[in-house]
Amino acid sequence: MRPVIIAANWKMHTTPSDAGDLATTIAARTNVDGVERVICPPFVCLAAVRDALAATPAGAGVGVGAQNVHHELTGAYTGEIGATMLVGLASWVIVGHSERRRDAGETDELIGRKLGRAIEAGLRPILCVGEQLDEREAGQAEMVVAAQLRGCLATFAADPGALETAGLVVAYEPVWAIGTGRTARGSDAAAMADAIRAAVRGLGGGFAGLAGELPVLYGGSVTAATAAEFLAEPAIDGALVGGASLKVEEMAGIVARAGLTAAGRRAAARVAG
Ligand code: 13P
Repeated sequence: MRPVIIAANWKMHTTPSDAGDLATTIAARTNVDGVERVICPPFVCLAAVRDALAATPAGAGVGVGAQNVHHELTGAYTGEIGATMLVGLASWVIVGHSERRRDAGETDELIGRKLGRAIEAGLRPILCVGEQLDEREAGQAEMVVAAQLRGCLATFAADPGALETAGLVVAYEPVWAIGTGRTARGSDAAAMADAIRAAVRGLGGGFAGLAGELPVLYGGSVTAATAAEFLAEPAIDGALVGGASLKVEEMAGIVARAGLTAAGRRAAARVAG
């Protein structure tokens, strides 16, 4: 049974003085059976969020994630953060977000190296993939995402099991749905989640084992009002939430809906077992 995960990507919002309060308020309002929660604040707020969550019982079970990591562990890289620096601050990390592909020119090959450093440091990666609007309109969405996966995961050909052990999560985030208020259709996103598992399986060898249990999240204008569209799809295992993740009521609604998905999966597993 795949997990149900709701991850909050706070992007470049919050400060060290307000992030802890927001995290604990969200934690207290989203304690729902069977839903894994992750909060990814800016680097400079990681310690505040970690400490605030640790200081309250409601914070138990809420994971903390970084939004990026460098592809080398240390070195002359001014302003960058290496994976081992995050140990103790975060247990998750987002890699390959489309905003970084766009603004920092990140390539699939570079993102693959980031994945490697994250896994070596024991961080659980959320790898983002997704097509542009013109690519979707040209019927190329599945091909584009498969190529991204191939490019990011190629370096693991000798040991795909490392990705499985690390608990790799893929977030399908169509670029045209991010921050636009325009979401994918649930059925289209579910088809992409299936295509993502098929693409990983298609990498051959040990990738088949990874693909079977690979959690795939949807991201792009998810709100409490739109969450059900995606969380009702058996192929989709949760959401990576941007703008709405800064709003307590929105997060409460999204995680509550995810709780229904988790309960449904538990009931189905009981019947099957
Ligand atoms: P929005 O939810 O603001 O569209 O952002 C999605 C996203 O990029 C999450 O990583």
